[in-house]
Amino acid sequence: MSKNICFIDGLEGILKYREIDINQLVELPYDAISYLLIQGELPADQELAEYSARLHGEREINREVMDVIRMCKLDIDAMEALRTIVSFISQFDPDLDDSSPEGNMRKAIRLIAKIPTIVAAYYRVANGKDPVPPDASLSHGANFLYMLKGRKPSELEAEVMEKDFILSAEHELNASTFSSRVTASTLSDLYSAVVSGLCTLKGPLHGGARAEVMTMLEEIGNPGNAEKYVLEKIGNRDKIMGFGHRVYKTYDPRGTIFKQLSRQLAEAKGDMHWYDTAEAIENTVVRELVEKKGKPIYPNVDFYSGVIYKYMDIPPQLATAIFAIGRVSGWIAHCFDQYEKKKIIRPRAFMLDEC
Ligand code: ACO
Repeated sequence: MSKNICFIDGLEGILKYREIDINQLVELPYDAISYLLIQGELPADQELAEYSARLHGEREINREVMDVIRMCKLDIDAMEALRTIVSFISQFDPDLDDSSPEGNMRKAIRLIAKIPTIVAAYYRVANGKDPVPPDASLSHGANFLYMLKGRKPSELEAEVMEKDFILSAEHELNASTFSSRVTASTLSDLYSAVVSGLCTLKGPLHGGARAEVMTMLEEIGNPGNAEKYVLEKIGNRDKIMGFGHRVYKTYDPRGTIFKQLSRQLAEAKGDMHWYDTAEAIENTVVRELVEKKGKPIYPNVDFYSGVIYKYMDIPPQLATAIFAIGRVSGWIAHCFDQYEKKKIIRPRAFMLDEC
């Protein structure tokens, strides 16, 4: 079953969740994708309505959690706060020790529902604003932006956020999913497995690259500076953030969709600045590394998503935490699969030589 959660063809640039192509999935609501990953198939209309009602009804966080959010330092990356608070909230879950499939499903729904609320509340408190309570009538993407900014997003912004969560939701046995699975393989609880995923996603070679892309865009400033910046990085043998992938040896299919979405946002806002800067970076990387040196270094999932956050006024400190909001459904799908196996993952040390 685990192979079935996700399929990647890294040479052809194909990505499927549960055997359905990502280009099809991105047109559906995030709730349907979350259901698909966790339950194994797309929900019928009634099943989706019930699942969404359960998810949207679990978005609130209690006063104790708000107190801990207020105790966090104000200047930390949102991932630091999120990791701490997800660990803290497990004690309030009445199903924490119920490892039946039903108990695990109830925990899954609470985790998927509350993580966006935690991220938005931390961000607002850290910026001296009052948290905005969730709105159960809004989609996952629209509700997150509403809680973050305190105003309802435009239709396009809500659609882009929803697609961002879908494109981030699952990617086979990447580093953070592997972490979550290892924790679940010991039959530890779902909160612990999700905390493991968060800790691993945080690293700059994994989910942390998105924030670094945003910082790079700021540093470069405008399209005219991109070539010089990239040539210097390559000359120093530094990695250019948001490029390259362990599995894809061609364009990351999520990168293609993110590129289209960032162009759409740029045009809607009448401001091509960040899009043009990103494209100038991409053109130089492809010319220097792909065409001249034959290395398959193309934009990955983090590159144009970073551009999107620039257009949506989302700061770099939130980029990885937003990735986690989408990815939690994928981690949980893998944990459920691992719980069924009831077998501990215990590789031998010599296998690290392969990594
Ligand atoms: N910029 C410049 N050169 C690169 C890049 C890059 N982003 N990525 C790989 N290369 C080059 C390496 O220098 C190396 O060249 P060499 O053979 O001359 O030494 C070659 O390509 C292979 O690179 P590795 O690091 O061995 O590739 P690996 O598969 O181990 O790494 C990784 C994949 C970690 C994603 C890497 O491409 C990287 O560090 N990218 C930048 C960080 C990033 O964007 N991470 C997000 C990945 S997607 C995700 O996790 C959600």
